[in-house]
Amino acid sequence: MKIASLQFTPKYLERLENLRCVESMIGDIDADLLVLPELFQSGYFFQSPDDLQSVAEPIPGGTTTGRLQAWAADTGTVIVAGLAEQAGDEAFNSAVLVRPNGEVETYRKVHLFYEETTIFTPGDLGFPVFDVETRSGRSYRLGMMVCFDWYFPEAARSLALNGADVIAHPSNLVLPHCPDSMPVRARENHVYTVTANRCGTEEKGDESLTFIGLSEICGPDGTILSRAGRDETTLETVEIDPHDARDRALNRYNDTLADRRPETYVH
Ligand code: ACM
Repeated sequence: MKIASLQFTPKYLERLENLRCVESMIGDIDADLLVLPELFQSGYFFQSPDDLQSVAEPIPGGTTTGRLQAWAADTGTVIVAGLAEQAGDEAFNSAVLVRPNGEVETYRKVHLFYEETTIFTPGDLGFPVFDVETRSGRSYRLGMMVCFDWYFPEAARSLALNGADVIAHPSNLVLPHCPDSMPVRARENHVYTVTANRCGTEEKGDESLTFIGLSEICGPDGTILSRAGRDETTLETVEIDPHDARDRALNRYNDTLADRRPETYVH
């Protein structure tokens, strides 16, 4: 199957323009799975709760999920994308998984970063894994985590224990260490990882956040299969076999997940 990661610079609160930009980059994409960045339709560094409210949408039912459903149906591609979700009075920093048949799944970011902690509710859906299909009808298991979740090995581990072959990782990375850490997350869990990051700088008062690009696709042996540039607007595609993630044996005696000793660990 072909997996793709899209990197660009969203414009703050310019929802329709961001959707137009991604639509023009996707074109007639040839991929089974496409991952877009975190908060791709809104930008990241919210100036106020009102700004967040102006772009947060219900999932499903919002404009953005509707567009993702249309793109998935047109291209046959499963799409994972980060967006602000409005659920009653609460806002979540969510990732949505959209199948070409229109079915939608949601993940809500568990580990909130910096001022996200003041405007979003922490995710309450755990780390679910979903059965999806390639365009040729081959089934595989897809999990999601969002950006700063990378900092907590428990996130990728939970997805692997729930059976993920591939982890989609919409991101707005600020800290420099993630691109060197994701190969480890992939290796220690024997999964594929697809990190779709953004570029650019956003300002709030006298503070600014610069996003580091370097979107990355890693294989289950920790190999970096593709890495984008820091400031590149790009759609990177890699051919993989998702079932390669399933044999977690290291040798005749050791297995990446089966050798865990949870009874000895601190919880
Ligand atoms: C982040 O979690 N967006 C750094």
